[in-house]
Amino acid sequence: VSAAMTEKPWKRYTGGEAKGFVDEMRLVAMKLHTRQQAQEGEMEAKAPEEQRVEEWEPTFDGYLKFLVDIKVVYDTLEQIIEKPSFPSYGEFRNTGLERSEKLAKDLKWFEEKGYGVPEASSPGVAYAKYLKQLSEKDPQAFICHFYNIYFANTAGGRIIAKKVAEKILDSRELEFYKWDGELSQLLQNVRDKLNKVAENWSREDKNRCLGETEISFKFYREIVRLMLS
Ligand code: HEM
Repeated sequence: VSAAMTEKPWKRYTGGEAKGFVDEMRLVAMKLHTRQQAQEGEMEAKAPEEQRVEEWEPTFDGYLKFLVDIKVVYDTLEQIIEKPSFPSYGEFRNTGLERSEKLAKDLKWFEEKGYGVPEASSPGVAYAKYLKQLSEKDPQAFICHFYNIYFANTAGGRIIAKKVAEKILDSRELEFYKWDGELSQLLQNVRDKLNKVAENWSREDKNRCLGETEISFKFYREIVRLMLS
């Protein structure tokens, strides 16, 4: 095995049998939730956004800020996948999980209703910048963010959406939380692709990927916190 091959394990994909790296990513992510956020959570809630969603006091303006910033993150992610710096990213084109266009529709609706849609703020801009840089140098670490950002939105994101919509959006269902096709199937397809891409990662690659989860949480939490501002 040449040095180049060890450096670029994503090029070694052979379609083999190994399974289950998504389970590892999920386990690490679940532990990083607070007990209040998810049953499998192990962290203590300190900040307001770490409390039970039922206890949140979201504001309308804050929620708009959240949507604007999370859109910056999805825009960036989806641009990275469209013009991949590494071939493995190409697997994740057109998964049906893309959120950029959906968010554009939501923001357009708010605009048409006469609500002032704010400029993107530092939490979204900072995360987008981090993702862009990371995607160019460390595919394993980048894939961790890809997983967490898309999957968080379909899990906790939908819980948040429901509770927040009840409180401040007159229960309006945003496009952000609608998928074309059966969501469970879309998620399973992406899990399969993630498992496939990770098959030939070394243990070191995998650990570096898993280690990124905490950073993903930190950035994402800052954006979620906007809802409560
Ligand atoms: C899963 C809640 C934030 C990443 C879950 C689940 C819940 C939840 C209840 C379990 C869903 C299930 O087992 O079906 C929340 C709440 C949050 C939050 C209330 C409040 C802010 C985050 C953040 C991230 C994240 C910041 C990472 C950026 C994930 C991932 C899963 C998950 C990757 C696994 C999804 C899957 O297997 O389908 N979350 N979460 N969550 N969450 Fe969160």
